Amino acid sequence: MTWLRPHPTEEAAIAPSLLAADFSRLREEIRAVEAAGADLLHLDVMDGDFVDNITMGPVVIRGIRKLASLFLDTHLMVTEPQRYVDAFRKAGADGITVHAEATADLARTLDAVRRTGAEVGLSINPATPLEPYEALLDSIDLLLVMSVQPGHGGQSFRPEVLPKVERAARLRRARNLRFAIEIDGGIDPESATLARRAGVDVLVAGSAIFRHPPYAARIAALRGAARRLST
Ligand code: DX5
Ligand code: ZN
Repeated sequence: MTWLRPHPTEEAAIAPSLLAADFSRLREEIRAVEAAGADLLHLDVMDGDFVDNITMGPVVIRGIRKLASLFLDTHLMVTEPQRYVDAFRKAGADGITVHAEATADLARTLDAVRRTGAEVGLSINPATPLEPYEALLDSIDLLLVMSVQPGHGGQSFRPEVLPKVERAARLRRARNLRFAIEIDGGIDPESATLARRAGVDVLVAGSAIFRHPPYAARIAALRGAARRLST
């Protein structure tokens, strides 16, 4: 698995966010979502500075790497992420996503991710416009459009971000680019349908999966809701 998929594809990729898992049972949780048909594993890294919450660092990801065979989709919600990209890559991250708002030198930071050998992701917050970053779309593998303010799971989906997804999908077609579009925050079967219609390829879901066992049924529901409509 990789973020890079032929577009448009029939099925959305589902990326459970481990943030909502039971960390006292991490091995079982990871095995369970893998067996339930997850396509990637989404890992939320928070530093208590870029966002107010603190979660996991490279040490924890190294442990997760040993437990998981899925692509590790690593979402860095940290200030000046270029300081850490090597450490996350060495820990086992397959894709590394940095926030546009987190660094003064975004192009260099994306380059630093590329040099590690990881796939390169760029994320924008709900209030951040896409336009200033459009020139970078040809040098990324993934655009992550946040549909909640980053920092916490369990928030409500913000549909006002969908025009950015539509615009990114249009630009991708017009420029014949290959980056995948991911959405993160408040994804459930209902918002998954809206996101998918707008052009999303990868759906991150924390609460909607881990708080609603059995996981296979939930993942199937998300995938079904997000099936590309032939419109
Ligand atoms: C929020 C994180 C998300 C979060 C999603 O800052 O980036 O990945 O875990 O959780 P839900 O799906 O519960 O909104
Ligand atoms: Zn995330």
